[in-house]
Amino acid sequence: MSDLITFDAAAKVFHLHNQEISYLFAIEDGGVLSHLYFGQAVAAYHGERRYPRKDRGFAGNLPGTERERGFSLDTLPQEISSRGEADFRTPAFVIRQANGAQASRFVYARHQIVPGKPALPGLPAAYVESPDEAATLIVTVVDQPSQLSADLYYTIYRDRAVIARSVRFHNPADQPAVTLEQAASAQLDFPAGQYQVLSLPGAHANERHLQKETVGYGIKTFASGRGTTSHQMNNFIALTAADTDEFHGAAYGIDLVYSGNHALSVEKDQIDQVRVVAGINPVGFSWELASGAEFQTPEALLVYSANGLNAMSQTYHSLIRERVVRGRYRDQERPILVNNWEATYFDFNEDKLRPIVDTAKKLGIEMFVLDDGWFGHRDDDTTSLGDWVVDRRKFPLGLKHFADYVHRQGLQFGLWVEPEMISKDSDLYRAHPDYLLAIPGREPSPSRSQYVLDLSRQEVRANIAGQLSDLLDQGYIDYIKWDMNRHISDVYSHTLPAARQGEVLHRYTLGLYALLEELTTKYPAVLWEGCSGGGGRIDTGFAYYMPQSWTSDNTDAVSRLGIQYGTSLVYPPNTFTAHVSVSPNEQTGRHASLAMRGNVAMSAVFGYELDLAKLTKTEQKQVAAQVAEYKAIRPLIQFGQLLRLESGNDYAWMFVSADQTEALLYTFHLLNNGQPAFHIVKMAGLDPAKQYMDTASQQVFGGDELMHIGLYQPLQQQDFSTQQYHFKAINPG
Ligand code: DGJ
Repeated sequence: MSDLITFDAAAKVFHLHNQEISYLFAIEDGGVLSHLYFGQAVAAYHGERRYPRKDRGFAGNLPGTERERGFSLDTLPQEISSRGEADFRTPAFVIRQANGAQASRFVYARHQIVPGKPALPGLPAAYVESPDEAATLIVTVVDQPSQLSADLYYTIYRDRAVIARSVRFHNPADQPAVTLEQAASAQLDFPAGQYQVLSLPGAHANERHLQKETVGYGIKTFASGRGTTSHQMNNFIALTAADTDEFHGAAYGIDLVYSGNHALSVEKDQIDQVRVVAGINPVGFSWELASGAEFQTPEALLVYSANGLNAMSQTYHSLIRERVVRGRYRDQERPILVNNWEATYFDFNEDKLRPIVDTAKKLGIEMFVLDDGWFGHRDDDTTSLGDWVVDRRKFPLGLKHFADYVHRQGLQFGLWVEPEMISKDSDLYRAHPDYLLAIPGREPSPSRSQYVLDLSRQEVRANIAGQLSDLLDQGYIDYIKWDMNRHISDVYSHTLPAARQGEVLHRYTLGLYALLEELTTKYPAVLWEGCSGGGGRIDTGFAYYMPQSWTSDNTDAVSRLGIQYGTSLVYPPNTFTAHVSVSPNEQTGRHASLAMRGNVAMSAVFGYELDLAKLTKTEQKQVAAQVAEYKAIRPLIQFGQLLRLESGNDYAWMFVSADQTEALLYTFHLLNNGQPAFHIVKMAGLDPAKQYMDTASQQVFGGDELMHIGLYQPLQQQDFSTQQYHFKAINPG
């Protein structure tokens, strides 16, 4: 362990380090924890980052150190800062003390170093499989007057450029209750400099587009107040050097392992230092910490890359793929599925679906997923959510009868559910009108004609778990798509007193996690796919329960290029799904070739979302070829390393196997031009000494040639053209 975390007792410096990164902080005057450094590994630290003191106007000092006017919490880079005691920058936590004051200052009390990585109670988190994979430093800090303490958790993995952080608050049993008004997972203070901040904003059907901005003075917050991760702002940001690109420059990723309201704030202070604070969104949040109670924050994953964004993404990809996603599908290839949503919407019955199943079988597809509309009496989106019982009008002989048919055709059977929601036109609502989130005396707002169940309540979760268990216990369901089609308003729970309504949204998220933990543990053979009107809840916390998630309701290949590009900044390609749908596309009206639609969708977990039976013979042949092709390249896509090469009017990305013996390159050209440039794409991540054969043309290239000289892209007289190149090393040793 001491090879990963050391404490220099004389200098009072903690050093977390592995081959790639160092993270350093010190116990400063008054026991305040001062952040020193996070970045490329250093073997040993000799004190060169000691806080340079300076007496500055309007920068207050620590009580009891009147003569130390050069030491100010307002300019000191810190590990965890509070409000109320002269640090006027963004706090990591805010505590309303029993006397109503908003003040606290946490100072060092003790620390311990433990092997491995403790689990976080009730919350998703990155994990280890053996204690030797990581070590965890737990520093306990105390607010002396209130005796409230916080354990700051820092885990460093042996072979990953990541630090996992979280905080656990304890209120001693003999102290009065206090209220947490903000409880961030991590704070990261950066030295003065010019930085860019990268974020992933979007919208429904237009998620996670990479946004880059210069960090200027003031505070910018990337947040969701929608009760869930949201399409509008993902809970990841990166701070980079001004000139960082995909392959060069420093990048610091900050990713929250959480699916509720989040806020990631970036503040540039008066002397050009930058502070990042990431955690549960404090807006609307409060948590009563009773005497003797604890509060655990979600986890934040901090990644450092010295070599640009691809290396940062690769650290996230391998961590999420190997140590966040759980269950048997973690290491298993994901089936190619066909989903009936865009094929039929709500207008289906068993007879109408069978031809899709039959054609899927013929084309080599491995799973049929029955989407929304199979339950209650749901012919549109206004009814039946909450009644997870088959609609006998559509399946007169029951759902099992149809699932058996699908199985007999050799396909797996998957089913859509939206368990967090309730329609007013449902038996569940008629029996339990109090189950939904609604404020007494106010009419709750419908969205997509539906309402949100109060998952903070155990009996509500038990009802849903019971209904889903009744379905899953029958043993014919191989896959569940867990959807959520509105954001959360009317936040109020009947089980909490007025003063504690600020807890509801976090309690909702904890309730959701408890429900997912129960069901995914009980049904380990099921493949779980997350969804929230497309990619509204793609986050690392959800990936702990759902090995894959539907990326976007926008299935247009051209739109998907930007969406999948942004998504890949954090999430590995085997955690997000992409389907070929019809052309012209249902969302954008755009025409795109089957090759274009196929190459985009094959770059993730692949599937179809159209009426296969309506395809022409030629199209069916093409689909069969795509399916066969994907089966051959699936290990490379789902478990290889992704490298983003280009984005803009030309996109290019590639996948390379760990041993560099196989690589796939996809290129996409969007709008054509009367005088097109001769466009060269250069690959990356190959072994320069290996010879690679293009499996289509049989032509052989050196890895060095493919990376340094590159490939001219064929000129085509059309918009939205694409190429796929599959290389195999001919001298694999
Ligand atoms: C939103 C999802 O993203 C779609 O794929 C589909 O399942 C619909 N909901 C069904 O209501």
